Amino acid sequence: MPNSLINIAELPTITDRRGCLTFAQFPDNIPFSVSRVYFIYKTDNDSPRGFHAHRELQQLMIAISGSFEVTLDDGQSREKVILTNPTQALLIDRMIWREMHNFSQDAICLVLASMPYDESDYIRNYDEFLTVVKEVRQ
Ligand code: TYD
Repeated sequence: MPNSLINIAELPTITDRRGCLTFAQFPDNIPFSVSRVYFIYKTDNDSPRGFHAHRELQQLMIAISGSFEVTLDDGQSREKVILTNPTQALLIDRMIWREMHNFSQDAICLVLASMPYDESDYIRNYDEFLTVVKEVRQ
């Protein structure tokens, strides 16, 4: 789909009788140098997460176990994808509002991030996001 907000890379996977090994490396499947890794787990199906955008941070998000739904919004349109497979890496660019819903019981969300944690990089208010996104795109 042209200009889709949903940008998923299929990660290379080596499968043999012992199981599967999936990998990602810069710059082939990770378009930035990774400065930070975090993972979200023991989630609650009724407790959505995210509801923010980042001014500069780029992220790659992988459902390494289970599944969950990710909604991305660039201030003009909103698209949803369900991550169900550890070989799928969803690229979330800077200035994209994200929400995560409907975590399965076994969900583990792995995130590779381009910068160290910095609260000042977050925009946690949707109206502020819409204002900033308009300024940035002008
Ligand atoms: P947040 O990014 O808001 O995650 P979610 O949108 O899934 O709730 O982070 C939740 C809390 O964890 C927030 O207080 C910031 C803190 N945090 C760190 O200290 N370091 C990190 O690398 C991350 C991702 C979050």
